[in-house]
Amino acid sequence: MSEPSGPLDRFSILVVDDEAVVRDSLQEWFSQEGYQVEAAASAPEALTALAKSEFDLVIADIRMPGMDGVELLEKIQAEKLEAAVILITGYASVESAVRALKLGAFDYLTKPFDPDDLSAVVRNALERQLLRRENRQLRDQLASGGVLSEIIGVSEAMRKVKEQIEMVAAVDSTVLVEGRSGTGKELVARAIHRLSPRRFHPLVVVHCGALTETLIESELFGHEKGAFTGAQHRRKGKFEAAMGGTVFLDEIADISLKTQTDLLRVLQEREVVRVGGTQAIPVDFRVIAATNRNLEQMVKEGLFRADLYYRLHVFRIYLPALRERPSDVPVLATHFLEKYSRKMGRHFHGFQRAALDKLSSHAWPGNVRELENCIERALVVSSEPVIRAEDLVLGEGRALAPLSGYSLECVEKNHILRVLEEFSWNQTQAAKALGIDRVTLYHKIKRYELKQSAKALSSPEAAVKGTRG
Ligand SMILES: Nc1ncnc2c1ncn2[C@@H]1O[C@H](COP(=O)(O)OP(=O)(O)OP(=O)(O)O)[C@@H](O)[C@H]1O
Ligand SMILES: [Mg+2]
Repeated sequence: MSEPSGPLDRFSILVVDDEAVVRDSLQEWFSQEGYQVEAAASAPEALTALAKSEFDLVIADIRMPGMDGVELLEKIQAEKLEAAVILITGYASVESAVRALKLGAFDYLTKPFDPDDLSAVVRNALERQLLRRENRQLRDQLASGGVLSEIIGVSEAMRKVKEQIEMVAAVDSTVLVEGRSGTGKELVARAIHRLSPRRFHPLVVVHCGALTETLIESELFGHEKGAFTGAQHRRKGKFEAAMGGTVFLDEIADISLKTQTDLLRVLQEREVVRVGGTQAIPVDFRVIAATNRNLEQMVKEGLFRADLYYRLHVFRIYLPALRERPSDVPVLATHFLEKYSRKMGRHFHGFQRAALDKLSSHAWPGNVRELENCIERALVVSSEPVIRAEDLVLGEGRALAPLSGYSLECVEKNHILRVLEEFSWNQTQAAKALGIDRVTLYHKIKRYELKQSAKALSSPEAAVKGTRG
């Protein structure tokens, strides 16, 4: 066995092989050579290890059940990890070896091999890695700033939110993101996933509100063939699809008590039973849930299970409404101005004073999404390189005045009804005007039991209005 010399002995190696004998002997061999060695029994396990800590080198068997060594290599390349990859193939399969080299493997060896040969290849690979190490460290420092820098905000509240994201991303706790519609809950959920050790695994999103009870259960837990009418094929649920990643449960308040019970079971047992099935399938995932409703209140009213609530809000991130953080309005406006200028290939210098004042005095019931839509629209209509106050079309101020009650819910209900009638119940247009997405609007209509009045249905005036916007 060759003695390690120089700086190479500080390198780390990940051995990936489904055969325990091979794994253990390679781990021992390279540990004795002075490297830091870890082992993984499968490609998914290796990806998790790679997300948790940096490795300079991965030695992987090509032949493995599930995801094979070449697929693992592809993932490593796709994620732009700096780890060099050496593949080991059990039978001399020239094609897969050539393909591996084309995909960027450092080298390959054919079983059985002389461990000294492997050591020599490893040393070559690590020497190349030494040159890359400095670059990698620099890039990593930038990466965490990169994800968080997409979340714009200078207010104390947003500074705290970013701090919380960084803190919770590193651990595996369940997170509950709360905030009104359009405050950036999904953005926060995505940031947590992208900064977490699960980032190389999928982030699967479930919009709980948009689905019926049968569909949501099959969406979450999967179903067996023939489980219900229309279930023609067996299907995996989102928890299975996450495969070591994150499940984002959006609008969690909208699931029924029955589904809440099933969900609680999955969170506790970490296994799912597909709808119409009997077998429990182990699943590995992290949950981030979001809601724009007051879950605590719903628990008090018996609409949401207390035990599920406690499981979900292990870590809570609250996004305040935009009007509660006025200092964020100008920076967000500028951010969206730049974003849409780039998209449209036009150049804008910024906002006129009066335009900024107008933005600052608006109440933003649709929060950041409303602001984003407003800026995009202003850029479309503006012929000048500077955005003027008249380019900004804001929701009517009087719509905020209560019609028949002072609670926020009541004001929201009336406002939505008014906007819906204004657009002849065209939900796509109404949602756009409200600055919320269509699914959210659909929900609110259901929740407030809003109905189209006979007048709105027949009014020619409403029909004409409906064509604008
Ligand atoms: N702090 C922010 N910085 C940059 N963009 C933001 C910020 N907050 C929200 N946005 C943008 O505003 C839009 C709405 O955000 P998002 O979809 O995350 O909100 P939400 O809280 O999930 O809304 P809803 O409850 O309606 O689903 C998105 O385009 C998002 O990128
Ligand atoms: Mg959302």
